[in-house]
Amino acid sequence: MPENINLSKIARSFGSASESYDISARLQRYSGKNLMPWLPNRNDLTVVDLGSGTGFFTDILASRYHQVIGLDISTKMLEFAKHNRNESIVWLEADAYQLPFANGSIDLIYSNLMIQWCEALPVLKAEIIRVLKPGGLFIFSTLVDGTLFELKSSWAQVDDDKHVIDFKTEQDLSAIFNTDESKLIEFSNKDIVLEYENVLHLAKELKGLGANQVPKKQSKGLAGKDKWQKMMVSYQDFLEPSGIYPATYKVFSGLMVKLND
Ligand SMILES: C[S@@+](CC[C@H](N)C(=O)[O-])C[C@H]1O[C@@H](n2cnc3c(N)ncnc32)[C@H](O)[C@@H]1O
Repeated sequence: MPENINLSKIARSFGSASESYDISARLQRYSGKNLMPWLPNRNDLTVVDLGSGTGFFTDILASRYHQVIGLDISTKMLEFAKHNRNESIVWLEADAYQLPFANGSIDLIYSNLMIQWCEALPVLKAEIIRVLKPGGLFIFSTLVDGTLFELKSSWAQVDDDKHVIDFKTEQDLSAIFNTDESKLIEFSNKDIVLEYENVLHLAKELKGLGANQVPKKQSKGLAGKDKWQKMMVSYQDFLEPSGIYPATYKVFSGLMVKLND
């Protein structure tokens, strides 16, 4: 597992959001549904929902496939999912970098808006390749560079801290998924602009999604509050005539196949 990644922090961040998540997951719903047309029609498949969260899409996968496993690093997300989803689903608390599956044992891995949290994406991809059967599929969505540019540039006018995680570029993804072992056979890009009544509403939704996970910031307390005020003023540059604050999410969706040895 890559050393610079604080997985327990990510798990706690998502865990604290598990109850509010299903209400605030507007983006997740959209991107997860967008992946559905790529799902294979055969139903005798072993399927993993990687970073299953509250299990909204795991449930849909369970209505189509023979054996479905929801895997997440957050205990609380899994607890919520266990109590609210189809009883046939197997839930596993595990880290995507170390999948608890035998080599070549999985037909399909579905992953909606999880891999943007994995800085060491080539390590994750190698693990996905290890567990997929030859010809197996990885169907995923993620966020790419340019996401939340309004928020990033508003913060950039205030300080040099990192307030939003770094997202990979489309070229990064293409290089990682197009190799001797795998091919990205379909992909699409879409900008989703969500509307917020104010910047606090945006911050609340990011928190509700557990998406506020960034490296340690310098400023805390009053100095932090002051900077927040300044950032909110900067964000007004993006205010729409209707008085709505926009936030752009660049969603990349892909269908990767593991090539035969
Ligand atoms: C934005 S949520 C998406 C949840 C779900 N796929 C959906 O569409 O509603 C990302 C999920 O990935 C999980 N996650 C993040 N890093 C992980 C890792 N290394 N291994 C397993 N799960 C991880 C989080 O706990 C969280 O539940």
